Amino acid sequence: MTQPRILVADDSEVIREVLTAFLDNLGYRVDTAADGQAALDAFRSQRHDLLITDLQMPRLEGLPLLKLVKAVEPDVAVIILTGHATLETAVEALRLGAYDYLLKPIEDMEAFGRLVARALKHHALVNENKRLLDELRQANSRLGAEVAERTRELQAAYESLRSLDKLKNDFVSVVSHELRTPLTSMRGSLGLLQGGVVGELSEEAQGLVGIAMQNCERLVRLVTDLLDLEKITAGHGAFRIALLDWPAVVRQAIDSSRGFVQSYGVDFELEAPAALRVRGDEDRLIQVLSNLLFNAAKFSPRGSVVTVSTRLLADSWVRTSVRDRGPGIPEHFRERIFQRFAQADMGEDRPAEGSGLGLAISREIVEHLGGRIGFDAAQGAGTVFWFDLPGASESSTQ
Ligand SMILES: Nc1ncnc2c1ncn2[C@@H]1O[C@H](COP(=O)(O)OP(=O)(O)OP(=O)(O)O)[C@@H](O)[C@H]1O
Ligand SMILES: [Mg+2]
Repeated sequence: MTQPRILVADDSEVIREVLTAFLDNLGYRVDTAADGQAALDAFRSQRHDLLITDLQMPRLEGLPLLKLVKAVEPDVAVIILTGHATLETAVEALRLGAYDYLLKPIEDMEAFGRLVARALKHHALVNENKRLLDELRQANSRLGAEVAERTRELQAAYESLRSLDKLKNDFVSVVSHELRTPLTSMRGSLGLLQGGVVGELSEEAQGLVGIAMQNCERLVRLVTDLLDLEKITAGHGAFRIALLDWPAVVRQAIDSSRGFVQSYGVDFELEAPAALRVRGDEDRLIQVLSNLLFNAAKFSPRGSVVTVSTRLLADSWVRTSVRDRGPGIPEHFRERIFQRFAQADMGEDRPAEGSGLGLAISREIVEHLGGRIGFDAAQGAGTVFWFDLPGASESSTQ
């Protein structure tokens, strides 16, 4: 700490000299002033840590000096020297922010030295406090500015993501619409070629047309899926809600999938109670079931069985599950599985079909019907995909 600087203001030369000698001896730097005005000038040109001042002085008295000095430096410590005659004024000085007062003549110099030390310590503490508070305020405002800045950045990023997302959706829907018509026409033409309408085809030509036809079918499916997804998420395409005989609907979905999945050499079995009612859109729900059945078959070992079951849950929801004996879902892929175009990386083992839209569509449909969809998978131990729909009691009607 730098050497404390003290200003002694008194019109008595003796007092100035005695105090200066005493304080100097204690290791303080001391300046003196013979009247109030000189003291004020001295304080203005050089900040002091402590002012020791007489009350009655020529030019400027102690009390106004105290006020002026405090106006320049509010935290300066001030000790008032007072005779009995001016004791009341000294008390007034305390009210105005003086640290303490001392009766003249000073009899106990030791006590005076302790008072000076206390006043200086107080001054240092007040200063330190102020510095810390300042630092805190600055840190606070820096933090506030930083938070505001980050919030702005996040908002901007969010906005740009949102507009990108819209752009992407618009793009996908325009492209799908534009693709559908020519694709349908291509499929028609290929069909005519295959049927020999324009003349018998050689075996080689038949093969090529067959491949073209297959790819055409695949593209039509993709475009239809994309348009479906867009319609459902945009809230277009009304759902036809009815009370459904649920086991019958599930059976129908299984039967119509059989043809599709024959090539996988997988069998379906159904476990369902005789009567179970579900409120929903039959065609859409068959779409969900077909997606799950198709996935299960695709990812099952040949010769295995896929178990479809449906049951009433305790809270009157109806759960429908599709269990396969396939490879399960890789841990790292699980949180992305319902996203559009998401497909797990399976290397050589991945079946060639599909574009990763089936589960995204299924989720849209199930959630649109107020339900929930999920899966339980242990890697290597098969997967159970399930969806729950709010149940409907027998008596309720459409
Ligand atoms: N039963 C399952 N077993 C293992 N992995 C599965 C199963 N079902 C889905 N997956 C994984 O989730 C991915 C996404 O499935 P999703 O049905 O959305 O798309 P897809 O079957 O690849 O294509 P699409 O359904 O559009 O024809 C699949 O590609 C596969 O990686
Ligand atoms: Mg699928």
